[in-house]
Amino acid sequence: KQQKLKPLIDINESAAKLYHHVLVNTELGEEALNYLKKRKISDEMIETFNLGYAPNERILKKYFEEKKVNYQDLRKTGLFTETNDGSLKDRFAGRLMVPIRNESGKTVGFSGRLLHKDDDMPKYLNTPETELFNKRKIIYNFDLAKPEIRQKHDVILFEGFMDVISAYQAGVKNGVASMGTSLTEEQIYDLKRVTKQIYVCYDGDTPGQKATNRAVDLLQKDSNLKIGIIQMPDGIDPDEYRRNNGETSFQQVVENGRESIVKFKINYLRSQFNLTNEEDKLDYIDKVLHIIATVDNPVERDVYLTELADNLDVSLGSLETQTEKYVNVTR
Ligand code: UTP
Ligand code: MN
Ligand code: MN
Ligand code: MN
Ligand code: MN
Repeated sequence: KQQKLKPLIDINESAAKLYHHVLVNTELGEEALNYLKKRKISDEMIETFNLGYAPNERILKKYFEEKKVNYQDLRKTGLFTETNDGSLKDRFAGRLMVPIRNESGKTVGFSGRLLHKDDDMPKYLNTPETELFNKRKIIYNFDLAKPEIRQKHDVILFEGFMDVISAYQAGVKNGVASMGTSLTEEQIYDLKRVTKQIYVCYDGDTPGQKATNRAVDLLQKDSNLKIGIIQMPDGIDPDEYRRNNGETSFQQVVENGRESIVKFKINYLRSQFNLTNEEDKLDYIDKVLHIIATVDNPVERDVYLTELADNLDVSLGSLETQTEKYVNVTR
């Protein structure tokens, strides 16, 4: 199988090289290069992540045809779309290209980003599923992050590639991302071979928080994992945070902004209820107390309960009494 995939890997690697060359050394890449400058992505990151630009629909095809690369192999890479007459067009034309590497560091696909907002086209386009490229299985940046994960004994899960690259630039090199899909069991399985401590650092907007909640539920199914949250400010994603506040501040958030999943759940649930409605409020409190009751450490329970009592204007005593009941039920 490895042998059969070799030509497809070679094509992907050559394409990455060509896209990178266009971005860095040619006039065709100027706009994309300026775009990256505007996003404060350094030249070093452009090299490390081999970022590129796909300037038009012809360049790849021409390049590979001149090298007499097998047509069926070209088709199988997913780098092209086919026109009615069977000829190939570069699928990613006009996009900033992020090569996706497998665990051995080989390029097996791409994600391409539009330089301008366009309501008719997706912001990011990925290589479709191929023999080489399985979105559920691939973990972006796992190859570069692995030694860092081993050294730090934890991994940080980001939502997007740009967050991973941004974090790396700020010196936070143990970051990975899933491929625009939500986290999968396969990915968790692979991460687990390297570390049991996983931090989720998704976007601070509503979809990001929802995705965090989902990721936490999936991760919690595995009782061997230790899970934490790195909370971003409201509406901000990690890359925006670094760009707005600088790299030192970013490092500090990553180190000091770590919170427990209980704290995350308490805050997340709050956004799901209308607390000015009495029935909703009682519902919310009941749900939260069930979660707090799962915490082993009584001091930690006390911290959550005190904060809850303050925030919701109820007495600490009643919250404690009710939690004790749930504690006894749970254990
Ligand atoms: P976001 O919308 O948060 O994108 O989607 P982002 O990572 O912040 O990207 P920038 O900063 O706008 O460049 C999170 C992830 O969802 C996937 C991508 O993997 C993206 O990184 N996604 C998003 C897609 O696959 N397609 C899309 O059209 C949008
Ligand atoms: Mn280079
Ligand atoms: Mn997002
Ligand atoms: Mn984002
Ligand atoms: Mn972003």
